[in-house]
Amino acid sequence: MTLESPKPASADAGVVGLAVMGQNLALNIADHGFSVAVHNRTTSVTEAMLAEHPAGTFGPGYRGKGPGGLVGCESVADFVSALKRPRVAIILIKAGKATDAVIDSLAEHMEPGDVIVDGGNAHWDDTSRRAEALSAKGLRFIGSGVSGGETGARFGPSLMPGGDREAWPVLEPIWQAIAAKVDARTGKPIEGAAPGKTVDDENAEACTAFIGPGSAGHYVKMVHNGIEYADMQLICEAYDLLRTVLELSPAELSDVFKAWDDTELDSFLIEITADILGQVDSKTSKPFVDIVLDRAGQKGTGKWTSVASLDMGVPAPTIAEAVFARAISSFKDLRVSASEVLDGPESPEFEGDRAQFVEDVRQALYCSKICAYAQGFGLMAEASKENNWDLDFAEIAQIWRGGCIIRAALLHEITLAYRERADLPNLLMAPAFVEAVDNAQDAWRRVVATSALQGVPTPAFSSALAYYDSLRSARLPASLLQAQRDYFGAHTYERVDAPRGEFFHLDWPEKERPEVQA
Ligand code: 6PG
Repeated sequence: MTLESPKPASADAGVVGLAVMGQNLALNIADHGFSVAVHNRTTSVTEAMLAEHPAGTFGPGYRGKGPGGLVGCESVADFVSALKRPRVAIILIKAGKATDAVIDSLAEHMEPGDVIVDGGNAHWDDTSRRAEALSAKGLRFIGSGVSGGETGARFGPSLMPGGDREAWPVLEPIWQAIAAKVDARTGKPIEGAAPGKTVDDENAEACTAFIGPGSAGHYVKMVHNGIEYADMQLICEAYDLLRTVLELSPAELSDVFKAWDDTELDSFLIEITADILGQVDSKTSKPFVDIVLDRAGQKGTGKWTSVASLDMGVPAPTIAEAVFARAISSFKDLRVSASEVLDGPESPEFEGDRAQFVEDVRQALYCSKICAYAQGFGLMAEASKENNWDLDFAEIAQIWRGGCIIRAALLHEITLAYRERADLPNLLMAPAFVEAVDNAQDAWRRVVATSALQGVPTPAFSSALAYYDSLRSARLPASLLQAQRDYFGAHTYERVDAPRGEFFHLDWPEKERPEVQA
């Protein structure tokens, strides 16, 4: 197939970058009756996509919403000229330097008022820089989080756009149409995720909303990923505990996770975990989970979230522990040699109530998960203040209820909590979560204690519990810490009986140790 040139300006939007995410998003847009220009650096990819999806596969009879269809473009100039004005060019390529190159080549051909949307997992600093550079040229820039992996992109992702607010009305009809939908009454995803199926439910709410100016959209997507890391690690720890302590098989554990999916843990990640644990390796007939090498990869968004939390001094220890857990997993050879040298505890056979322990782990997982969200929302709250983003947390939780990787029943509860009180100081302080954690904390503590006694590593469970206990401590040993700082470095301290901001120093080397006001 050859691609014609030049193009008439007929496409409603365009997608640059036709790897899996780009192709799927373009097809999703076309499914909804939009005409989509598509361009890839390697033209054969564009040609193959067009050959696989001829014009007749879109429009009435497909999703019944309009003509839809793809317009293949060989060059960036053709791509830009194929777009109706104001032009909407959506970039879906691996985040990094290549994004700058694509933006530059688009900008060369685009005109003031046109819109560039970056749907990659860009670092929010890059997004701010790009927004500034493009606005100087009169171009509008939106950095949009796109979550949900391949299937999400194809049939309904969660979309987190941020940037130029005046560009939003141009993108909004497309983003609203293609985003995942949830039932407004229950917060549950509406399963419309298949070609030919439309979501006509009048209660359908799209999983997208304008997040805020500048890089707010990509920041929120980054925090989404940080929570995703924590959630995945917590599930892995639950699996490990049940497997090690109770010696349950992967098949048995698959049933446990299936059952959990019918409780308040109901989520995409629990669902896929049940499925994975039930999978058998076709080559060896062993449980699939046992033939996968225990080294976890990462592309960096969890690390960025942790770095952001350290930079701002906002605690997100469970997210950071999840990143470190991946890091220590990657030292496979070191762990194997250490395992031959370092002893663990004499782990006695578990003599407690097995069913109770399974339930305890479930409750520990739920509490820890709430803590991971509390940390993520705490981080966003601080970033919102620092950057004047005015983030709406109810709305953010709302658009995470469907489409994205962390979609979960819990997100509906979080939505309600922030709808009730937009300025919640910490998610754990929402009345519903105060009660939920209070009811489950004994189980949570038993699980963390058992993991320590049995030598099963649970960095995320344990750090979440420590976060909860620190948060509810009106007084922490930081008083001693501050005294230590004053002792060796004259770093001064505040007194409990003096106004905040007044600093004192004890002259430690002096015999009388007089106190001086700093
Ligand atoms: C999503 C995912 C997606 C991707 C992450 C995984 O929301 O759809 O978060 O963005 O799967 O990049 O990140 P790691 O490779 O770091 O695990």
